[in-house]
Amino acid sequence: MNKETLLAASFEKIQNHIRKNEETQPVVNYQEPASLQQILKPAVSDEPAGEEEFLKMIDQYLEFAVKTGNKQFLNQLYSGFNFPAFVGDMLTSLTNTSMYTYEVAPAATLIEKEMIALMNSYAGYTEGDGIFLTGGSNGNLVAMFSARNRILPQSRFHGYDRNENLVAFVNQQAHYSFETAANLLGIGSKNVIKVKAGPDGRMIPDELEQSIKRAIQNGQKPFFVAVTCATTLLGAYDPIDEIAEITKRHGLWLHADGAFGGSIILSDLHRHLMKGIEKTDSFVWNPHKLMNIPLVCSALLVRQKGVLQHNITDLNTDYIFHDSDDVEDLGKKSIQCGRHVDAVKLWFAWKYFGKKGYAQRMDNLIEMATHAENTVNRHPRLELMAPRQSFSVCFRYRPENDINLNEFNLAVREKLRKSGQSIVNYGYMGKELTIRLVTANGELQKKDIDQFFTKFLETAKSLEKKQVEEYEY
Ligand SMILES: Cc1ncc(COP(=O)(O)O)c(C=O)c1O
Repeated sequence: MNKETLLAASFEKIQNHIRKNEETQPVVNYQEPASLQQILKPAVSDEPAGEEEFLKMIDQYLEFAVKTGNKQFLNQLYSGFNFPAFVGDMLTSLTNTSMYTYEVAPAATLIEKEMIALMNSYAGYTEGDGIFLTGGSNGNLVAMFSARNRILPQSRFHGYDRNENLVAFVNQQAHYSFETAANLLGIGSKNVIKVKAGPDGRMIPDELEQSIKRAIQNGQKPFFVAVTCATTLLGAYDPIDEIAEITKRHGLWLHADGAFGGSIILSDLHRHLMKGIEKTDSFVWNPHKLMNIPLVCSALLVRQKGVLQHNITDLNTDYIFHDSDDVEDLGKKSIQCGRHVDAVKLWFAWKYFGKKGYAQRMDNLIEMATHAENTVNRHPRLELMAPRQSFSVCFRYRPENDINLNEFNLAVREKLRKSGQSIVNYGYMGKELTIRLVTANGELQKKDIDQFFTKFLETAKSLEKKQVEEYEY
């Protein structure tokens, strides 16, 4: 087989895999790790594998991969298959360039600049800037890094002095990456203060104000507040407008973590959830979640130009940044050197679907989540664990018998997952386990949600019956 024939055979397998997304296929062929190790035999030998083995490797990898394009993959904050973005991603691999300079990435540099300008126009950052980076966690890190360098510019050169006592404030249900960021920046994860949220999961502005005042009284120096635009478990949007008034009064950096829910800004119907976003200093937005762009695709936007360059020390970089083209080398404002091209796949998808297509996809996601919520509310054995805020529906099954609800619901989830029928996630609200269904696939239909609940209820009922029989026996 020559290289061309091998490539054609590989593409045929890829096409078959894509086709299966549309069919009723198991979402995973689940194997216990020991059994998968036996089947896959991932060890690499010294001898070349050969073509037959190469094609078998493709089959096996695809066979045991979780089918995140399947409509029963309701587990993560991303799902679905995005054809134009997939093509864009393939082209990126094919041309294999790096985002640091115009010299090696001319088209990608212009595309990234265009995408950042477009995203900034939705954020209302008229003088904004931004950079694609390796995910929301790193976006949160660079935002905190920028805030630290604004308040303590010398820390860029001399390090962070602990006696400065910097403290940051986040929603008590914020993503864990803020603590990682504080850890990495030398501020310390204990100096990320968790602000109380209401039963709907939104940060309570008055609690924030009180926390800031208490910190100042304790000799600490507040410098950074993060609002979350769709919290990871409940999908709650913090009230940006009200919080922006507080951060303005205290002169604090206001960051919006829209890693999960930032894409809602494209919906005319629902963008009010992010009212006040233009008052923030920075905003992380992950197209790899609700816009179904293949991982990773994430941008950190900043309201003020120059902020990102300022973060990077003025190193001697003349071996890479030659400044020979009349265009900015984007690498100068990134904390990475080699950087994957992530803007191109977004560009392909955004052009293909248009703003209108994406607005419809966002509206559809909310409609599907509402449908799931209504299904829970209508069923006597299903209990909604918290009012739905956006794309996440948190619920559990209540069997007739008095049994441990956490163990029971976890067992239902695990049985569904291992059977390959559906994958849905779970988390904890205090000590109570909640099943979390996320509508993240822009092409979901009501019948897909109905299919999930049919399988979930069948599984729950069969487990319930089994437990009653065991008890009676
Ligand atoms: C609210 C929120 N912020 C940040 C992140 C981290 O984003 P990433 O997975 O791209 O690092 C997540 C991930 O789920 C999230 O839900």
